[in-house]
Order: sequence, then C-alpha cells, then structure tokens
Amino acid sequence: MKITLVGTGYVGLVSGACFAEFGFEITCVDRDTAKIDALKQGKIPIYEPGLDSLVAQGIKSNRLSFTTDLKTAVKASNVVMIAVGTPSRRGDGHADLTYVYQAAEDIANAIAGYTVVVTKSTVPVGTSRQVAEIIKKTRPNFIEGIHFDVASNPEFLREGSAINDFMRPDRVVIGTNNAKACEILQKLYRPLYLIETPIVSTNPETSELIKYAANGFLAMKISFINQMADLCEKTGGDVQVLAKGIGLDKRIGGKFLNAGPGYGGSCFPKDTRALSQIAEQHGTKCSLIDEVSTYNEKRKSDMANRILIALTDHHAPKKVAILGLTFKPNTDDLREAPSLAIIPELLKNDIEVSVYDPLYFKGCERLNHAISFEESLKEVCFSASAYDAIKNAACVVILTEWNEFRALDMEKVCELMDNTVAPLFMDFRNIYRAEEMRKFRYYGVGKG
Ligand SMILES: NC(=O)c1ccc[n+]([C@@H]2O[C@H](COP(=O)([O-])OP(=O)(O)OC[C@H]3O[C@@H](n4cnc5c(N)ncnc54)[C@H](O)[C@@H]3O)[C@@H](O)[C@H]2O)c1
Repeated sequence: MKITLVGTGYVGLVSGACFAEFGFEITCVDRDTAKIDALKQGKIPIYEPGLDSLVAQGIKSNRLSFTTDLKTAVKASNVVMIAVGTPSRRGDGHADLTYVYQAAEDIANAIAGYTVVVTKSTVPVGTSRQVAEIIKKTRPNFIEGIHFDVASNPEFLREGSAINDFMRPDRVVIGTNNAKACEILQKLYRPLYLIETPIVSTNPETSELIKYAANGFLAMKISFINQMADLCEKTGGDVQVLAKGIGLDKRIGGKFLNAGPGYGGSCFPKDTRALSQIAEQHGTKCSLIDEVSTYNEKRKSDMANRILIALTDHHAPKKVAILGLTFKPNTDDLREAPSLAIIPELLKNDIEVSVYDPLYFKGCERLNHAISFEESLKEVCFSASAYDAIKNAACVVILTEWNEFRALDMEKVCELMDNTVAPLFMDFRNIYRAEEMRKFRYYGVGKG
C-alpha cells in the first residue's frame, strides 16, 4: 500500500517514519522546501527522541521519501493523509482550517485512481464532510465511494514519546461511513493487531469529536490538580500526596495529576479553545472547557506573580535563572509554553533573566528559531549550562522537568547564587523535596 502524508511536521514526519517501519511505502510531502531539502539529506528539522534513526532506516529501506511535489505523490497513492497544522484562528480561538482546505484542494487536483483521503490533523466536527465537498467541487465528475472516500483518523501521539505512542497506541480511532475505506484503514493498522491495540470504528463526526474530547478531558485534569495545589498551599496540604491518594482510585487514574505552571504546547491550549467554539457554533456549551482555558491562562500569569512576590524581599538588581523553556521535556516545541508567558512578565518588571534549556542554550543553532518565535527572548541571556544560568541569580525557577535538572548539585547552586539575601528556589515541577532544600527559601507547587 502506498501512502502520502501531506504535512511533514511533528505528526506527519513521525507517522510517515512509523508507517514506513511497518513496511508501507511512504511519501512525506511538505510545501516548506527547506524542510524537505534537509530531510532528504537525513537532517531532522524537529527534536524527537529516536526519530533520526527511524527516518534514516526508512530512507535506507527505500520505503520513506520526501518531496514538495504533492501531485506526483498523491497520484501514486492509495491513501492520502492530511497532517497539516490547525492553529487557533486569531481573535476567536476557532481552529484555523486554511491549511486543511488548501491541502484537500491540492489533493483533489492530483487524485488519479480510487483514493482514501484521511484527516489526521485535529479538526472540528464536520471537517471530513467539508473535505469531501471540496474534492467534489474541485473535481465535479468525481463520485464519493467510487473515485474517493474520506475518513477521520485523529492522532494521539505525544511529543517527546511520539514513536512509542505511534507504535504502541492505547487505541486507534477510525471514522468513516464507507466500509471499503474502513477496511483499507484497518489494513494500515494491521501491524498493531499483534499487540492487541483496540480499534474504535465509528462515523467521522464521532471520530473528530473523540480527539477534542480526549484533549479537553486531559487539560481539565491538569487544571483540576492545579486548583487542588492552590488549595493545598492555603491549607497545609501536599498536592503530590493528594494526587497519589486520588490517583490510586482506578476510576480517576494517576496520570496527568502533576501540579505545575499550567499546560502548554501545540495541542491542549488550542484544542480546548477550539472545543469551546465548536460547542458554541452548534448551539450548546462546554462551560467546563471554557473555564479550563481561562483558568490555564491565568495560571501562567499567577506563576509569574508568585516569582515577583517572592522577590519582594530582595533588593535591586534582581536576576532570575529560568531552567527549561519548552512546555515539557524531550521536545523542542515552544508553542504556548508557560515560559513564554512568564518570562515577559519578569522582563516587564525590570528583572534580569537568564535561561538554560537543554535544547536552547548559548551557542546552539536552534536559538535563532526561538528568538524569531518569541520577541521577548531577545532580551534574555541564554546560558551554556544550568550552572552558568544560575550564576549571581537571586532566584532559580524550574519550568521544565528535564532529566538534567533532577540531580543538580545544590551546594554548587547555592554557592553560585546571589547570597546577599536567602537564595530563592522555585520548583514549579516539584522535582525536589523541601527537606533536601533547606539551604534555600524553597517553593514547591501545592506544598502548604
Ligand atoms: N504536535 C503534536 O503533538 C500533535 C499530536 C496530535 C495531533 N496533532 C495535530 O496534528 C496536526 C499537525 O500538527 P503538527 O504539530 O505536526 O504541525 P506542524 O506545524 O509541526 O506541521 C505541519 C506541517 O504542514 C505543512 N503544510 C501546511 N500546509 C501544507 C500544504 N498545503 N501542503 C503541504 N504541507 C503543508 C507545514 O509546512 C508544516 O511543516 C495538527 O492538527 C495538530 O493539532 C499534533
């Protein structure tokens, strides 16, 4: 079976490389020429553990190739998957479907034989139907069910563990009204039968909703534990013990119960906003999700305020060392990371900010990307190591729980910091225990 992935980003590239590993013939298409040129030379444009060797293996086996020529790729394929971005539309939070619709039109123009057009991007309910309409409008002689079919197959991989998530998913969701298209997609996922991956087959509408419902629920779980953390702080509770106490209840489960600075990334913030908009558009309300989005934005600025309040005992000049820029470890993705809300607040208050992230540090190539992505990062001083960032800082803030921050030499940290006032250590990921941090004024999230 020949498959084309349109959009070679986090989802398209990982899916393409994994499908090639399963034995299918894959072409990854992108309109970004620089990205495709780099991939052809074996250079991976994103950071994702294990992806470089998987892509190299795919290229070597001749089952994985890259092109900007969508037409030729689609013409030769039985299945075409749309994996382009669906960012938040400026102003209203709706999912911006410009890239999906453009891809659908480009695909329609290229289809040569019966093709299943699959939406892998996260899209609002009704989008598969829209994709079918675009194909019919572009090729008026095309009949759905004969020349093409559409299906929804949302992707659930997480950045940082994307390959394992793709190869060993909790479930695969296939949404189509057509038996032939369903059979073809089931064949695509046959390699997962061996590990007994559940396949949820449904109509496109339910499939599209499943993706938003899953992300909405997970975002809600994070916001819930963050609110419990605030309550613990006011009452003398310990949110980590609370999370364990509730998480052991199988109806609740222990995952996604880590209190922190609010969720970020390329999915939860935009997908919760889009879910609220989808509900409103259809004359109903997801008020829980509305509140989750609002609360999460406030959470990020509250965390900046916590730093500012904690620093009020300090005399100017103040320097804060931020450890971790990305929204979670093992990814280079900066989209909606809490750091990008917190750092500008500190700068606005005349705080000097130094930053170290294992993927964004002084002298690394990726830094230009970060600075072009977020203007305020021009004003921070990027360091070459965590200890370098900490030098003369009045406060250290852990924003991302990268492994290399888990065993910092606290003697050294303390010595390097500005010791004119009690050094402040704000552990927004609860990596450390208060007992081992007695040298500092230590703040852990949700520790009363
Ligand atoms: N990133 C994740 O962890 C993740 C997980 C699950 C689902 N998703 C969803 O998957 C979709 C893709 O996300 P992503 O993070 O991979 O996006 P991305 O921004 O990393 O990649 C999208 C790619 O599509 C390309 N593109 C856009 N229009 C195109 C066109 N007409 N033809 C060819 N290429 C085109 C862009 O150049 C870009 O390289 C989104 O809907 C997202 O919500 C993302």
